[in-house]
Amino acid sequence: MLTCDTHVQQETTSTIQSLYQSFLHYPDTQNNREQALCFIAAQLGQARALTCDLPDDIQNLTQWSDAHVVEVGDAYQAYLSKRKAGGPREYFQSRSHALFYLQAIAPTKFVDGAWLYGLTRHWRDERFYPLIKTYIEELGVGNAQQNHVLLYRKMLERNGCFNHINEADSLYLQGAIQLALGHNSEAFVPEILGYNLGYEQPPLHMLITAYELKELGIDPYYFTLHVTTDNASTGHARQAVDVVQRLAPAVGSTDTFYDRVKAGYRLNQLGLNYKALLASFNLEQQTVKMLEQKRFYGTNMHSDFCRIEGKTVNEWLQTPGQIKAFLNAMVKCRWVKRNEDPQRSRFWQLIAGDNAKMAGVFSPYEAQLIYDWIAGDWLANRADQHASNKVARLVQPAQPSANCAAPSNNPVENNEGDVDSDVQRFEREVTGLPTDDKMRRLIQLMAPQTHTTAAGLLATRMFWKYLCR
Ligand SMILES: [Fe+2]
Ligand SMILES: [Fe+2]
Repeated sequence: MLTCDTHVQQETTSTIQSLYQSFLHYPDTQNNREQALCFIAAQLGQARALTCDLPDDIQNLTQWSDAHVVEVGDAYQAYLSKRKAGGPREYFQSRSHALFYLQAIAPTKFVDGAWLYGLTRHWRDERFYPLIKTYIEELGVGNAQQNHVLLYRKMLERNGCFNHINEADSLYLQGAIQLALGHNSEAFVPEILGYNLGYEQPPLHMLITAYELKELGIDPYYFTLHVTTDNASTGHARQAVDVVQRLAPAVGSTDTFYDRVKAGYRLNQLGLNYKALLASFNLEQQTVKMLEQKRFYGTNMHSDFCRIEGKTVNEWLQTPGQIKAFLNAMVKCRWVKRNEDPQRSRFWQLIAGDNAKMAGVFSPYEAQLIYDWIAGDWLANRADQHASNKVARLVQPAQPSANCAAPSNNPVENNEGDVDSDVQRFEREVTGLPTDDKMRRLIQLMAPQTHTTAAGLLATRMFWKYLCR
């Protein structure tokens, strides 16, 4: 019999981030399975104390979802009216603030859809079809250009953010919950239905995020895609409601089942919410932190021609903890002219001027932090909202790297050779397998840790083709 005492002890000594990594990469070891079960049980225990706005009667879920749509729509219109009347952005003070936020939510977005993974094994049961369809759509139906995890990675990569994933433990909580549910669906079907019900209702913050990202010159496609695919008329939000009603027990009371759905629904509220995340951004702190991390690579790389406030650059960088004083020294000696156009600052010219001596040193995100820190009030007062959008282009062309390049949908035809030899091997392996074995193998490759690979995308296409035949 499973007891959670040992695992609770392990959990308190492990970070949430390490649980997230274990559940993602090694979900099938006995220890991780047990730990995931106990982790969810503990999270459900915490969630029970939270409020729940679901209707008392399970039959009223459709009206509840429709009312949510009206509420979100009204709030969004109110937001747009304020903006059109000249009101400031409400989420992102600057482009670097937006990029910080996108990185902070990345651990959740990198496992988008994971809570539904385990339900794919019910592919013969028609009642699960809406949720399996939702999962397959999260995976882009096996098309790399539509796979939500790949889209998110691509967005970060294009904006130079990929090496700056925030390490704060609380940012991994939602992702760890999603993975633990997805790999233990047999024990938590009602809770998964409830979690999905909460996650798939399109929230106001998705709409505002998309609006403000576009304003800041960041492609909002990932967010606009969710506004459309999660819609409550025919999209994921509606499927989430329908499936709860389909799976409610036909005999006896639905109370126990619905209580468990509600508990799963409340799991959405755990961890840092978007408002707390937005409020946690401090431009100067993030700039100092970034330069402190960068210090290691820059120490002793500078010539000693210039002295700033009596010290050479190498001397400023040699000792940890001097970055803030170094920045202040550059302000004092007018290398940095704060609250003015950064183009007027010598420091910025070294980073992105015509003869930038530090070209390539900073990623677009890092440079954006410096740019926004220098610009300060000058940026806030500019009528041109896109003033800082040019930074990424000034610093380096924001091209996706090999890491984020979408795997080809047809590697054989594209002659990609050994890179995709596993795909060819996989195709040979599953061809001719009996149906149950074939579907089992395809499902293995559709797991959160593998569905973004070329073989995972192929498995998703094959699985969906078979289901839709
Ligand atoms: Fe998604
Ligand atoms: Fe969705």
